[in-house]
Amino acid sequence: MARQFFVGGNFKMNPATREAKKALIKVLNDADIDPSTEVVIAPPHLYLFAILESIRKDIKVSAQNCYCKDAGAFTGEVSPRQLADAEIPYVILGHSERRTLLHESSEFVAQKTRAALDSGLSVILCIGETLQEREAGETAKVCEAQLKPVVKALKEGDWSKIVVAYEPVWAIGTGKVATPQQAQDTHADIRTFLSTAVSPVVASSTRLIYGGSVSAANCKELSDLPDVDGFLVGGASLKPEFVDIINSKR
Ligand code: G3P
Repeated sequence: MARQFFVGGNFKMNPATREAKKALIKVLNDADIDPSTEVVIAPPHLYLFAILESIRKDIKVSAQNCYCKDAGAFTGEVSPRQLADAEIPYVILGHSERRTLLHESSEFVAQKTRAALDSGLSVILCIGETLQEREAGETAKVCEAQLKPVVKALKEGDWSKIVVAYEPVWAIGTGKVATPQQAQDTHADIRTFLSTAVSPVVASSTRLIYGGSVSAANCKELSDLPDVDGFLVGGASLKPEFVDIINSKR
């Protein structure tokens, strides 16, 4: 089954002003974009509505997080149901910045994934190891441990709404991109795990995208790898070179 190439832009807590946000959207709206790639941008919650209204229709919009309940007394949180009602189709969950800085466990990420799917959202599910874990030869083990609670929470049919983003923590925002060999090997290991833990069909149809210092300079080589189905881009998604990354399969 052919997997559609996927490029996500995770703006994180950027840009800092509405003016800069407008300029960023203008670059994307004016760009010549490969129609065969699925493109999703994830701005901060505050900008979701404005961007949904101003972005071209062939670019989808994602939230960067959501909670695991539909509504209620959860100060500061946004619910998956609210996102779905606002016609936001995607949410990023499990990003390492949230796992590390906000101490989100894999069980909590799985709970939020379940809730997001129940509201009709698709999920960009982030996993990845630290440098220490890679050096200890634990990359596959860590990725599997992060995926296991999600596997438990999902039914086989749910996986068509999941994109797994492999983001080695040591490559995020460091300029230190994974080598093609490291990316390919880890993606292949994740696929093997999904085949055993879920099913061969899910393993071969789920998109596995890479994130961590992706740039216009390194995207082409990574995009040619058999098990890399796209990218989740941080820093470079705020620059005009994001368009080159989107078009890396051209
Ligand atoms: O989610 C994307 C991400 O964490 C990678 O960030 O800045 O290294 O491209 P960056």
